[in-house]
Amino acid sequence: MSIKEVRRDFPVFRHYPSLAYLDSAATAQKPQSVIDAVKGFYERENANVHRAVYPLAEKSTALYESSRSEVARFIGAERDELIFTKGSTESLNIIANALATSGRYKTFVVPTFEHHSNFLPWQYHSLKNEIKFVALPIMGAELTMTEVEENLTGVEAPFVFSIGGLINATGYRTPFEDLTELVHSFGGLIVIDGAQLVPHEIFDFKKVNSDFLVFSGHKMLAETGIGCLVGRAELLDDLTPFVFGGGMVDRVSIETSSYAKERTSRLEGGTQNISGAVSLASACRYLNKIGMSAIHKHVSYLTETAREMLKQISNVTVYSPPDSHAILLFSHKNIHSHDLAEFLGRTQEVAIRSGHHCAQLQMEALGITSACRASFYFYNTVEDVERLIEGISKAERWFL
Ligand SMILES: Cc1ncc(COP(=O)(O)O)c(C=O)c1O
Repeated sequence: MSIKEVRRDFPVFRHYPSLAYLDSAATAQKPQSVIDAVKGFYERENANVHRAVYPLAEKSTALYESSRSEVARFIGAERDELIFTKGSTESLNIIANALATSGRYKTFVVPTFEHHSNFLPWQYHSLKNEIKFVALPIMGAELTMTEVEENLTGVEAPFVFSIGGLINATGYRTPFEDLTELVHSFGGLIVIDGAQLVPHEIFDFKKVNSDFLVFSGHKMLAETGIGCLVGRAELLDDLTPFVFGGGMVDRVSIETSSYAKERTSRLEGGTQNISGAVSLASACRYLNKIGMSAIHKHVSYLTETAREMLKQISNVTVYSPPDSHAILLFSHKNIHSHDLAEFLGRTQEVAIRSGHHCAQLQMEALGITSACRASFYFYNTVEDVERLIEGISKAERWFL
């Protein structure tokens, strides 16, 4: 499929033909097939799931559950290892809350370059539950296995180590496969925040052998308000639910209650985002149609092209490490990142993000408080990259 054909699948580019959308790390644009899947659900299948026995409700339940199976297949997990949530933030909060209150874990370890969604829940729950909190210091934007090993030596086990697969501020791909082995050898559990990773490469939950994986639908073409918490079956069976209410209960009595045996029901209290699940399954189908390897290759090419071009601008500093993927963090010596992003957006139709990127400690480690972030997906073109570079030159003429 050519890039022209791909872009035709995304209505946003019909409505804004000259938009250079370089903010997919914040949220991805949606293809027509995903929009149609949501519309089709509301037109033909809408009823609540796991409740009523009339045919429309059975159809809705079947679609919701087949969506679960499809999404689980996409990341190499079993269908009953995947819990639908609102997104990565909610998934991480559910895990941190349950592991903290289990009384089993002595230490939570989180590197300082994490997105706040993968830092704050661990910090908060460790403080609340007298669990030791280790913020693994990151100098710059990368970590080494030796550094992690040194930090884990002496950490009281059992512990939980939570790390992003692809760091949202810089695009640094962590060695999460090797870290999984290392953490297990030290007697810890590993949680992988796949919010930025899963949209960009094939993730095989069984093969990676991590204990948990979380990700968000909206960063991989689906609706907002849908995401996943994936966990090894025995660990999910042990998680205390975060949400108590309809659909997750077995027997209720005044004294005490028992909860659904099936882990997907027990951990999905209340009415779920059914159309969101349908949209996420549709997104996985679309990504498979394009091919995750082709997506990775195209995005690598765009990232490298943009990096080389940015490096040619003498007043621009690129903070992303050399092998970062899909995301480039940079700043201009003489133009504040917010001014640059606003100029690019309003006058050039180039959409990038500016600020601390929900990663204040990562900014601190880089010696800055704010920077610009351009992020790429498979619907972007080299022309989008050239527009970014030309836009920065125009901003220099405008501001300086
Ligand atoms: C690495 C990472 N983790 C977690 C999140 C939070 O995701 P959500 O807002 O979809 O819950 C983000 C969002 O940008 C992210 O990039």
